[in-house]
Amino acid sequence: MSRVYDDEQLAGAYERGNEMPEASLQAWVELIAAYAQRSSPSIVEIGSGTGVFSAAMARWIEGSEVMAVDASEAMLSEARRHHPHPAVQYLSAEAEAEAVPAAGSVFDLALMSRVIHHIPDRARAARERAMLRTCGSGSRGGCAKGVPSR
Ligand SMILES: C[S@@+](CC[C@H](N)C(=O)[O-])C[C@H]1O[C@@H](n2cnc3c(N)ncnc32)[C@H](O)[C@@H]1O
Repeated sequence: MSRVYDDEQLAGAYERGNEMPEASLQAWVELIAAYAQRSSPSIVEIGSGTGVFSAAMARWIEGSEVMAVDASEAMLSEARRHHPHPAVQYLSAEAEAEAVPAAGSVFDLALMSRVIHHIPDRARAARERAMLRTCGSGSRGGCAKGVPSR
């Protein structure tokens, strides 16, 4: 896995540096929510970082439940501190994109934002198709390479 984010200082800097105007964040969530085919969707965010999108989805997508998966404990720690939400479950860092611990779970929506380029063995990840594997039929997955703030 990519260890580049497994650093407390970097995780703190990432959290501070990625602050987004509320209106921009809400616009992103509206875009993401448009892919959900059900109301009150169950969502998995893979590579959830400091939890900005996980918490925002829980906040603005009514009735949603979000499972947030990241390979870095430092990033998850920032997420728990700065973006807690009762409908978000931040998993431990043992959860990686290549092996999402979601046996038996089916999600309506999977989000991977600014993560794919950090996965060293993309061919394996593609074969594993973690996002698709965790989604049922009629579910949707989205992968964003970059997230402009305005
Ligand atoms: C640029 S940050 C994006 C965070 C968040 N998705 C966002 O858009 O703000 C990339 C994140 O991917 C995580 N990551 C890297 N490789 C991963 C892997 N193999 N499985 C899960 N997460 C991974 C890193 O720990 C980091 O938190």
